[in-house]
Amino acid sequence: MKKIKISTVAALAIFAAVTATCPGCVSDKPTAGILPKPVEMTPKGGGYFDMNRNVSLLFSDVSDTDRRRLLEFAGRAFGDSADKSGGKIPVLSLAIVDSLPGFDSDEGYVMDVRPDTTMIEATSGAGLFYAMQSLEQLADQNGSKVPACHVTDYPRFPYRGLMLDVSRNFRNKEFVKKQIDAMAMLKLNNLHLHLTDAAGWRMQIDRYPRLTEFAAWRKGGTWKEWDNTYCESTDSAATGGFYTKDDLREIIRYAADRYITVIPEIEMPGHSAEVLAAYPELSCTGKPYKHHEFCPGNEETYEFLENVLDEVIEVFPSQYIHIGGDEANKDAWKECPKCRRRMAAEGIKDVDGLQSYLIHRMERYLNSKGRTLFGWDEIMDGGAAPGAAILSWRGPEPGIKAASAGHPVVMAPGRFCYLDGYQDAPSTQPEAIGGYLPLSLAYSFDPAPDSLSVDVAKNIKGVEATLFTEYVATDDHAEYMLYPRLLALAEAAWTPQVLRDYDDFHARALVMNDRLASDGYNVFDMRAEVGNRKEALEPVEHLARGKKVVYNDCAWSPNYPAAEAATLTDGLRGGWNYNDYRWQGFSVDSTDRALDVTIDLERKEKISYIGGEFMQLCGPDVWFPRKVVISVSDNGDDFKELKVIEREPKEDTGVSFLDFSWEGSTEARYVRYQAFNRSHFMFLDEIVVR
Ligand code: ACM
Ligand code: ZN
Repeated sequence: MKKIKISTVAALAIFAAVTATCPGCVSDKPTAGILPKPVEMTPKGGGYFDMNRNVSLLFSDVSDTDRRRLLEFAGRAFGDSADKSGGKIPVLSLAIVDSLPGFDSDEGYVMDVRPDTTMIEATSGAGLFYAMQSLEQLADQNGSKVPACHVTDYPRFPYRGLMLDVSRNFRNKEFVKKQIDAMAMLKLNNLHLHLTDAAGWRMQIDRYPRLTEFAAWRKGGTWKEWDNTYCESTDSAATGGFYTKDDLREIIRYAADRYITVIPEIEMPGHSAEVLAAYPELSCTGKPYKHHEFCPGNEETYEFLENVLDEVIEVFPSQYIHIGGDEANKDAWKECPKCRRRMAAEGIKDVDGLQSYLIHRMERYLNSKGRTLFGWDEIMDGGAAPGAAILSWRGPEPGIKAASAGHPVVMAPGRFCYLDGYQDAPSTQPEAIGGYLPLSLAYSFDPAPDSLSVDVAKNIKGVEATLFTEYVATDDHAEYMLYPRLLALAEAAWTPQVLRDYDDFHARALVMNDRLASDGYNVFDMRAEVGNRKEALEPVEHLARGKKVVYNDCAWSPNYPAAEAATLTDGLRGGWNYNDYRWQGFSVDSTDRALDVTIDLERKEKISYIGGEFMQLCGPDVWFPRKVVISVSDNGDDFKELKVIEREPKEDTGVSFLDFSWEGSTEARYVRYQAFNRSHFMFLDEIVVR
């Protein structure tokens, strides 16, 4: 981040001398502007504020802590003085004021840049800090000479987050601090650490030492190769690790100095296999390696969770404590005598209610300590804890429902916010968990669209980008997945929707991405982006386009309806991701016949080709069909088989596509297309008839 130099004399005013990167010129790079885009920025014309000269910092009504943080930032951003001889001009004035006209966010600022004086006003240290970020970006882009301008700026949302999964692959504290630096530049203010999951427990807990002696370690290999067992930390093959409480305090302090809150996530009741391997008595059967879920019937579970939370609260000052709550498999609870007893005693009617009981108890516990429970949107299932904050990942809908019920909501729908998906054509990328989330799609996310009522929208508190790391083993790969997509979500979190424009963003993101690269981040090369699957770029014309499709005693998966009955003949081919609303999903019924549709061409047509292209992505269990049958009919009742295509399942890595088609010459009005599989998902985008 170092570019130009400033002295750090800790007095009311400090004097800075500067090493010019471009003496005598205004810029050696194109000026792109601030990212995230400010609410209003008006060029003043005539001159610039020259950070190459000695700059005096003047503080007014700034607390000691804020002053230290701002001085430290100025030192990092503008460097040490090479020449302390300067006078009092130019002046960089930083003032805390009671209020600012035009907005009520306490993270906003007004900045007036003139040749001799830059005046920054804000109602908080965070506002001054964000103004300094903007100033620093402008200085960096303009050879240290910030063009005269007036900026009024404040965030659209109070919660602007990044989640790092440090369980699946542990990342050391230096890596975390480096990402905190980038977050500060992007005006993000919440770092959510996914500290626990089956792949490893990552926080020192004094009362339960086996969590870090054993549950934090596994033997070598990637997450995919891992055999789901753990090992002693002393094992020569052990990989993994954990943060000591001192490490975490250091991270928390480092983040606080950048106006970022660190929120811990301790998973419960699911995603907890590592705990139950170390402390098997907390699972329903009492056996290790059998369960991912705590036993909510067992009182010892609550004792454990409360003891752990006590130590978490002692380290983390955040208001929100995230307790996971996602993807619990509740099957074992149905059979477990302790769970059944608990349900009977508490009048709980089903296992969703039992999860809800656990979450409510945890909420009461956290509230008794003055904290707020935060959880993935499943904590709404079976009845949400009343004051809980919700992180909506299974789409925006659970978040909208929660916001309607009065919960504070942070939006992190997978389609837009999960940065573990491919950001470009999968064949050009390191293996990812799946999906396709290019920069443009991340940027297109509007966390609180105008279609929501004011009452709902007011409860949507912000946005979170998430980086789960099952397929992300190294620091370099993690940064590659984060940048530049984090830039897009930072702007979704900060900038008013009406000001957002992808082309304008893209130009600024190129500059910021280059900047991050020159600061030592391993970024994705935006200039080399291939883009979506070529088939998805233009609609395809064919005989069946727009024709009616009848589903013969079968149905698309309710989770993957795409455009429902229109999907297979709407002319729209799917892209790299089965989540793009163009791929229709089919799960397999007891007859193996997952897909059986008839298309009515409305009149007899000459036909030379009937085909459908399927997607395969074995990680999430999406496979090509085992068999496809293509038939035609004149009357819709009596069908003649044109082709039976059989194929042995073959596992591959990454996403692939395969055409299951017939070519020849026939005439018919009706086309029937059947696809068979065994216990897997299938995805089809279009049935093309020519
Ligand atoms: C999640 O992705 N299971 C929150
Ligand atoms: Zn149980």
